Amino acid sequence: MLRELDINDDLRLRQLRQDDFPALVKYLNDEDIARNTRSIPQPYTLQDAQDFWEKLQKRTQETGGAPSYWVIEHREYGLMGSIAVFFKNGVEAHSDEIGYLMGHPWRGRGYATAAVKALTAMQFETRPNLLRLEAWVYAYNPASKRVLEKAGYVVEGFCRAIFLKNGQAVDAWILARLRQDGELPA
Ligand SMILES: CC(C)(COP(=O)(O)OP(=O)(O)OC[C@H]1O[C@@H](n2cnc3c(N)ncnc32)[C@H](O)[C@@H]1OP(=O)(O)O)[C@@H](O)C(=O)NCCC(=O)NCCS
Repeated sequence: MLRELDINDDLRLRQLRQDDFPALVKYLNDEDIARNTRSIPQPYTLQDAQDFWEKLQKRTQETGGAPSYWVIEHREYGLMGSIAVFFKNGVEAHSDEIGYLMGHPWRGRGYATAAVKALTAMQFETRPNLLRLEAWVYAYNPASKRVLEKAGYVVEGFCRAIFLKNGQAVDAWILARLRQDGELPA
């Protein structure tokens, strides 16, 4: 699995560094991220970044060095977001889940879609057992559903009360892309 990947002339995926923590704090303290993601603490502090870093090091050891988290970096503007696979059932499993986010100033420019496409291609290329990547999207997050559809993921269902967030039941879409779906959209 690749630790770094050039998406295009401007964007790349790379591993998190400790000097990224201030950018994480800047972008992760965000209402939309709080509403639309499942496990990011709010408010998000430097200590949260440090705790996440430690968790990530441990996870990478457990996966024999296979990376599960990349920052999305712009050549000129620096860190803008992040994208991850969860290794839900381990590195060798036939299916996995992805998650991603963009900092508020960088949304609406196609960057998340480019990152999802790049990560999806990379996962299928580097994990021979992988047949399926999926993503869960809260019912009230049409931008994320659109990102996945643009990246070639297919809506498989809508599940009522599938998540509990802050004590409230939340409905969500499930979208997936299979290896057999072939080439990603241009
Ligand atoms: C979801 C998120 C990653 C999208 O990032 P982005 O960089 O804006 O995504 P893109 O620019 O690649 O594409 C966004 C698409 O959603 C569309 N969109 C935005 N708001 C929308 C809305 N309210 N309804 C429908 N479509 C919407 C945009 O028009 C665009 O589609 P288009 O190219 O056809 O016009 C970003 O909004 C985010 O980080 N949100 C908070 C965290 C989050 O939701 N993460 C995903 C959890 S499942």
